[in-house]
Amino acid sequence: MEFFLDTANLDQIREVNDLGLLDGVTTNPTLMSREGGDWREQASLICDAVDGPVSLEVIGTTHEEMIKEAKDLVSFGPNVVVKIPMIPEGLKALKELTEREIKTNVTLVFSPSQALLAAKLGATYVSPFVGRLDGLGQSGMEAVDQMRTLFDNYAFNTKILVASVRHPMHVIESGLIGADVITLPYATIMQLMQHPLTDKGLAAFLADWEAFQAEQQ
Ligand code: G3P
Repeated sequence: MEFFLDTANLDQIREVNDLGLLDGVTTNPTLMSREGGDWREQASLICDAVDGPVSLEVIGTTHEEMIKEAKDLVSFGPNVVVKIPMIPEGLKALKELTEREIKTNVTLVFSPSQALLAAKLGATYVSPFVGRLDGLGQSGMEAVDQMRTLFDNYAFNTKILVASVRHPMHVIESGLIGADVITLPYATIMQLMQHPLTDKGLAAFLADWEAFQAEQQ
């Protein structure tokens, strides 16, 4: 399973990259706006800082606007993936971007039927928003599981990119289902490596060693 970071923050991107855990980055207009400043400069710095794919999202809601923006976004780097919303105009844009061999991430996906349409039109990634579905009392993971079955049944190459992740169990469940990619908030990726028994165990090992060394003096 590939790990993407769901952020537009360069400090977070560099820190996770230094850990060796960064396979790519996803952004959206909300995440980009949180960083402030010139979004074009920020997008360019992110693309330079990341070896893997970087999703940059269009703002337009018509097919023509999305294609125009996509042409601009891909100029930020060879690793750009154009993120387009799962709306009818987005599907039109998706078809054209697939024909032009531009990588795409269809976002705001909440149902297996939406994922199926995106896969049929050649999306590189589909992004089911599991946390937002859970928040409505629906099962985000059940939707991902159905997407996995649909894609496998018809050998679609579209990758399932689990998004809107809220906690480590989303990561484990995504792995058990066989999702291709998960995009994680910085806090969740840090939670993955923590366990109180690790800290307690290390403290005991170090204390025992220190006592042993003292005895030998
Ligand atoms: O980047 C898309 C998605 O991960 C957003 O998640 O936390 O706004 O539901 P969230």
